[in-house]
Amino acid sequence: MNDRPLIGPDEHKPWPEITEADKKAVAAVLDRGVLAGPNAPEIRALEEEYAAYTGARHCLATNAGTSSLHAALAAAGVEPGGEVIVPAYTFVASAFAAIHQGAEPVFCDVDPRTFTIDTTQVEALITERTQAIMAVHAHGQPADMAELKAIGARHGVPIVEDNSQAHGIRYRDEMTGSLSETSGASVNHSKNLPAGEGGLFTTDDEESYHIARRLVLYGEDVPADAPRPYWSHGVGWNYRGQEMVCALARSQLRRLDEHNTRSQENAARLTEGLKGLTGVETPFVHPDRGCSYWKYQLLLHPEELGFDGDPRDLRDRIMRALQAEGVEVSIWQPQPVPAQVAFRRRTQVWRPDTEAEAVRPWVPGAFPVASRICATGLSLGTMWRPLYVQEPELMDRYVQAVEKVFANLDVVLSQPFEPYPRVV
Ligand SMILES: Cc1ncc(COP(=O)(O)O)c(C=O)c1O
Repeated sequence: MNDRPLIGPDEHKPWPEITEADKKAVAAVLDRGVLAGPNAPEIRALEEEYAAYTGARHCLATNAGTSSLHAALAAAGVEPGGEVIVPAYTFVASAFAAIHQGAEPVFCDVDPRTFTIDTTQVEALITERTQAIMAVHAHGQPADMAELKAIGARHGVPIVEDNSQAHGIRYRDEMTGSLSETSGASVNHSKNLPAGEGGLFTTDDEESYHIARRLVLYGEDVPADAPRPYWSHGVGWNYRGQEMVCALARSQLRRLDEHNTRSQENAARLTEGLKGLTGVETPFVHPDRGCSYWKYQLLLHPEELGFDGDPRDLRDRIMRALQAEGVEVSIWQPQPVPAQVAFRRRTQVWRPDTEAEAVRPWVPGAFPVASRICATGLSLGTMWRPLYVQEPELMDRYVQAVEKVFANLDVVLSQPFEPYPRVV
């Protein structure tokens, strides 16, 4: 195993890709000298361009994906005391958005093939307090929107997309960000529309747009063509979008389709190369939707590999061996979201001394599908070196590296290894 790594340190392209056009776009903001304001030119232009791109009628730029999701829930009618059904496999921010609105996230397990919310389990979680269902497009694959909408319609509950990982992807013939009543999305540095830190709220509904705009702007209406009245209609936050971020996002938006296509081609090449390898499941994408492959997630099958220890040991050993071959490989979400202490407290406190008494127990293996993905999932590509910009030939080397590690599994399993941090 320990000969020269298959892939050298300079063979990956970094992410985000920053071009001369991106630099000019940001420099133009500084030259103009308008750095902020809800009606500032880059913010308004991005809002128009992203709305047109997704097919939604309205867009609102915010300072983060998390704030756009908070706005999306509020605009969809979620109120303090309500419940929001959220998949157990996502990033914490999907669930925090509900808490920021004073509501409670109610977790649902995910589909074993698409890793998006398991629509067969949603209905059993609906109560009279349920005010929204959050459809997270996990790894860049849209959730089963038709089924979710049918459930929502039966119970009078709106669907809210978390489109942070799936900019520019279609579900049937519609684009993410326009698939539900309201939507929020991140444009942070790791996303397929990367602009540093920022968020994009979208909706078709005029009133939802106004609610979201007030929520992100101190509760105010701030007209572009009249003096600011300084009049708050309700509690608001300073969640405003930022001018330089929006300039960069506009420039990146022009290359979003190109990056998605490259990612899809690279993913197809990996899947073709890895098919038939025992013990590894490649990503499944439902035929009626696309995928950005924000994560190209492999699932390991310890039983097929004759491994009967903690599956995380197998995953971490394989990850370390792939890293030693120069592969960019990562773990995203080592435990389901509801396992985390933040969702097991009775009150939202952060002081360490209160931790013990404030925590409800976590039952290992709860949300079995999410738990399995968290324990056995490995992503090829990382936040800093994702598939969006890599050369297709590099994917062949990834395949060779995986094959090499699997061919030498006995050595990999007998060597000391550095486990990925574990809390539960
Ligand atoms: C699914 C999902 N939801 C929400 C967020 C939060 O976005 P942000 O970090 O821009 O607040 C992210 C990314 O960080 C995410 O991947």
